[in-house]
Amino acid sequence: MRILTLLVFILTFIGCNKNVQKIADTKSPTDRIEILLSKMTIEEKIGQMVQYNGFWDSTGPAPSEGDSKKKYEHLRTGQVGSVLNVSGVENVRNMQKVVVEESRLGIPLIFGLDVIHGHKTLSPIPLAESASWDLELIEASARMAAKEATARGINWTFAPMVDISRDARWGRVMEGAGEDVFLGTAIARARVRGFQGNDLSATNTLAATAKHFAAYGFAESGRDYNTADIGTSTLYNVVLPPFKACVEEGICTFMNSFNVLNGIPATGDKFLQRELLKGKWNFDGFIVSDWGSANEMIDHGYAKDLKHAAELAANAGSDMDMESYAYIKHLKEVVEEGKIPMELIDDSVRRILKIKEKLGLFDDPYKYCDIDREKTQVFNQENKDEVLEIAKKSIVLLKNENNILPIKKDQQNILVIGELAADKTSPLGSWRIGSDDNTATSVLEGIDNLGIDYHFSNGVKLVEGNVDFINEVKINESDKTGFEEAITNAASADLVIMVLGEHGFQSGEGRSRTKLGFPGLQQELLEQIAEVNKNIILVNMSGRPLVLTWADENIPAIVQAWQLGTRSGDAIASVLFGEQNPCGKLPMSFPRSVGQVPIYYNKLNTGRPGPNELVFWSHYIDESNDPLYPFGYGLSYTDFTYSNVNIQITDTLKHEIKVNVDLKNNGDVDGREVAQLYIRDKVASVSRPIKELKGFQLADLKAGESTTLTFKLSESELGFYDNNGNFIFESGEFEIFVGGSSDTKMSKTIEL
Ligand code: GLC
Repeated sequence: MRILTLLVFILTFIGCNKNVQKIADTKSPTDRIEILLSKMTIEEKIGQMVQYNGFWDSTGPAPSEGDSKKKYEHLRTGQVGSVLNVSGVENVRNMQKVVVEESRLGIPLIFGLDVIHGHKTLSPIPLAESASWDLELIEASARMAAKEATARGINWTFAPMVDISRDARWGRVMEGAGEDVFLGTAIARARVRGFQGNDLSATNTLAATAKHFAAYGFAESGRDYNTADIGTSTLYNVVLPPFKACVEEGICTFMNSFNVLNGIPATGDKFLQRELLKGKWNFDGFIVSDWGSANEMIDHGYAKDLKHAAELAANAGSDMDMESYAYIKHLKEVVEEGKIPMELIDDSVRRILKIKEKLGLFDDPYKYCDIDREKTQVFNQENKDEVLEIAKKSIVLLKNENNILPIKKDQQNILVIGELAADKTSPLGSWRIGSDDNTATSVLEGIDNLGIDYHFSNGVKLVEGNVDFINEVKINESDKTGFEEAITNAASADLVIMVLGEHGFQSGEGRSRTKLGFPGLQQELLEQIAEVNKNIILVNMSGRPLVLTWADENIPAIVQAWQLGTRSGDAIASVLFGEQNPCGKLPMSFPRSVGQVPIYYNKLNTGRPGPNELVFWSHYIDESNDPLYPFGYGLSYTDFTYSNVNIQITDTLKHEIKVNVDLKNNGDVDGREVAQLYIRDKVASVSRPIKELKGFQLADLKAGESTTLTFKLSESELGFYDNNGNFIFESGEFEIFVGGSSDTKMSKTIEL
């Protein structure tokens, strides 16, 4: 009898596996998926909705006990649809082999990873890249990231993060495109195009993810994972547009967010996921929950237990469960109890299978496992050169008194101070999960590479003990070893370059701050150095805007150098010594004090904008309302002037206008200006911001060169979302601003 049973099993199994082959041979993708769906058991369907974190080094023996053994069994029984944090051709191939060759239907896994700003070779952190305003470079940066990650077996990235945020206390501002919806939307589109390319079945393109849906960047008090409580107008006009743009760019997946919105956890939010995303926006990809967010609905007080969480998440349209185990443990029960119709399960599974089909995984589950590509396409010189360009253009010159910058190459007796100047890891930022420590060019190496002599003093330790991805960074608040040496050396130096800022793990997920000054003893050191030498160039390497108010009042030159990735030091040196004329513009306002936060340029006017002689207007009694450095601000080694703004109505009925402005490079060096156009809708049925970015152009002008820039605006730029989520245009008076920063006063008004 046993022999017979075994024979039947073997024949069935071969038959089924042949099924996958037969399915792969079916011409139409839809047919393939429908045939597969019709063969799947409920366990196999739910399996596609399960994502596990990489749970063993698959180059080693299969796990023999505990949770990993159970997860391995789920691979073999076709109850896992995806894994994350597994990379490397050998690891991916071995894990894929278990599923494809041992499970009944052999449905391949999709391998996800946070390829946020590169994989092994890192470009600047996304907030820094955004300071370049260079959409072509940003797209190319994502394309390079896709090339590298796919060469290591990855086919899905959890990027771009498109959360708009106005709060530098939130550690994840480093991962986004800053405070503005227009710039953020344009950058979101560029990143999706870069990751996905125009052929998802190619072996060098990734499925991308729009995250975190939605309003995660509005976590109250900038405290990560905190409640987001925003108004309808902010939701429709600020939070949602970058996500909608990702759908329009054909993005494959969304990731929902940890926070509640209007008291509902995003993972369980039917309005966001079914009514809006899959309904009104007609999104045809799938939604993955963020790590454990389904389970976290219990802590939110929204689910009573994990089974209830499974029901709520699946009903709300969260298609794949990342590391909550809600679906693998309870979804079958919930379906059998009739709490979720099978149609919804089928819809989730269909969406997931479709993305695997688009990636070509049914045709060849091992297509991303090319050992030769891994050897030649990863961390090569071509990639390192590519990330240098965008790193240079991401640097923002904030102050340059008496043109102390650029430093002359024959400058003598330069002293570099600051542990971050020698740091080869912090410039990689906090999302360096695919890269390796100590692989960034440091500032010291960058200056060395220019063949320039200098002395170096560490100055002060930034952190104590070891730091890693999951634990708090312990800041040195007491050990002043190095102060004396630095101060003594500074007293005799002709020029001091101080490299201060944040450790790479002082921004990013789970790293919110209540203070925005230099961490630890750096500010004290800066002030003591300034007492013995006035010739200081301050380089700030941070993952977020910091409060630089004292430096702005006391230090002649300030450079915002973010965390610029693998070629950080070369980029910084090229700007400091004039090889690169800085052209970055801030994607986020820099506050004068943390008490002003959240602070952003596109604010509403309020009913008491002031100023007036009494106290009864919207202001602080101890601080200005204005940022230290506004959105869109950045200096150059040359000087640009705008003139002759004129506006023409090109189509009265369609409310289309053309705005021309002359731009001149008055200086004696070539440079790039990011020319910006803002509008103000003076009166509307919903109060509109005092300024809104609605256009920008990169003008590369030679010394003395002039040009005329033309911007075209239509209702899609002049309109807004009303509180029902409808995009509308209302006639009336518009003020049009043009300039090199959001604080430009150059404007003309027009009636439309
Ligand atoms: C994290 C992040 C998310 C990331 C995911 C997988 O908690 O919130 O952005 O993609 O887990 O690493």
